[in-house]
Amino acid sequence: MEKIVSLCKRRGYLFQSSEIYGGIQGFWDYGPLGVELKRNLKDAWWHDMISGHNELVKPESAPRAFEMVGLDSTIIMHPQVWKCSGHYDLFHDHMVDCRESKKRYRFDQIRGRWVEYQDKKVFVTTMAEAEQELDEVRRRGMKFFKLRNKDADKITVGNESLTLDKLDSTENVLAPDAKSLDTLTEPREFNLMFKTTLGALGGEDDTTFLRPETAQGIFVNFKNVLDSSRVGLPFGIGQVGKSFRNEITPRNFTFRSREFEQMEIEFFCHPDQSQEWYRYWRDRRLAWYKELGLSDESLIMREHHQEELAHYSVGTADIEYAFPFLPEGEYGELEGIAHRGDFDLRSHMEGKLDPSTRPMQVELGEDGKPKYRGSGRDLTYRDEATNEKFVPHVVEPSAGADRGALAFLCEAYTEDEAPDENGKMQTRTVMKLHPRLAPIKAAVFPLVKKDGMPEVAHEIYGELKRHMNVFYDEKGAVGRRYRRQDEAGTPYCITVDTDTLTDRTVTIRDRDTLEQTRVKIDDVVADLRTRING
Ligand code: GAP
Repeated sequence: MEKIVSLCKRRGYLFQSSEIYGGIQGFWDYGPLGVELKRNLKDAWWHDMISGHNELVKPESAPRAFEMVGLDSTIIMHPQVWKCSGHYDLFHDHMVDCRESKKRYRFDQIRGRWVEYQDKKVFVTTMAEAEQELDEVRRRGMKFFKLRNKDADKITVGNESLTLDKLDSTENVLAPDAKSLDTLTEPREFNLMFKTTLGALGGEDDTTFLRPETAQGIFVNFKNVLDSSRVGLPFGIGQVGKSFRNEITPRNFTFRSREFEQMEIEFFCHPDQSQEWYRYWRDRRLAWYKELGLSDESLIMREHHQEELAHYSVGTADIEYAFPFLPEGEYGELEGIAHRGDFDLRSHMEGKLDPSTRPMQVELGEDGKPKYRGSGRDLTYRDEATNEKFVPHVVEPSAGADRGALAFLCEAYTEDEAPDENGKMQTRTVMKLHPRLAPIKAAVFPLVKKDGMPEVAHEIYGELKRHMNVFYDEKGAVGRRYRRQDEAGTPYCITVDTDTLTDRTVTIRDRDTLEQTRVKIDDVVADLRTRING
């Protein structure tokens, strides 16, 4: 992971936000290469899910043909949205404070092991990354028992690494930054929504929130979309945009950030067909990641247990990726596919539903009235063919653009062997990004900076620029130019050489196979298009 983080900074994929002021935790900036990668990922999602979807043809594994449309709703919405969605009451994590170090942690992120010395057993914790966790627990355990290195074999460190929420009590816990035991407070709820104030007066009634998900913007526009675009059930609305969560301990590079982008679909269907659609979206979304290059071995689909399900959900599966910062055998969530039933549309219509009731009833306050009143708008759907009126069920594939970009970066990072300009094998670092995602599609090089080669290369570069993001480089040995592009993930390098001057052909070098093919200058655009899009 350290190598990936360092490459991302060195080559301009990712920078810490406000770095010159020491940075700000949980916020990341995308550099010149990173912005192209993330844009390509979002564009691929938008094309494959929304704009490129053909509603006239039934996709192979879908129950039937369906429509897809897009939306771009605001980040700040009416405060009632968050009350009816459940986020106001329920969107929280548990935090603990350390009375000794004054630090704050997310309860379920503190990891540790039981350490035994003579007849004493303490649970030693750390916030270190998975690779360093065992060493760090051992080091802290030795220090706690005041042992020297030569006495290392006198302590026993447990084989099992556990998060704190798995323990019955924190009495014998050595907190991550403490020297004595039992310094952690009881876990407390912490709402993850960022508060903000509307207008200049700023009273309690003017408090609203930065959206923690893009989904609610879709639900509150359900009727607008239905009335304005002639779509009929089943259909999906997709949205890509920023979301904000005040994570207690943002960590693992961009994996858990406080500002991030989501790519969400709310798919509306008849309740009787919702299980079928749930299965369809689950499988389709997993296939999408594989098509763009994530390997079978590093991906899993995990169905949630009943007790893990979100308050609204009757079924959820996560697509998870083996991020290298996780311990061996552990996976991190890339995307959740949730069957949300009719919770959202009914809550925005009738008032927030009580998730513990079956069938769900509007949650009442102490005065016996709805705790959070809905919009009162009719969000039901009338099927024109059958005249049936019902509240559609929703299947929601919800992906993170930043987590996606991070997974593709991790998958792409490769060290292999390739010959240098003298034919000698050297270790090379290469980012094997799928050509659709690669920030730069091709680099154009004159073999040497003379004999009319730069002029021809300029001509090719100018033509290619009209179609895709390409890069021009004429400085230094050509081998070194190839290496730079390998690290940047550029799939193709086009070289103008002496033959070009006589037959107007160039070589196209493939980043992964290193194969070089001669192509006519006039065919380069078409050739690259085929290679990139298949
Ligand atoms: N509307 C449902 C929803 O928001 P979620 O599982 O909380 O569900 C969906 O979020 C996706 O958003 C996650 O799978 C992840 O990719 C991304 N995501 C969530 N929190 C994130 C964070 N703090 N930083 C980066 N990405 C995050």
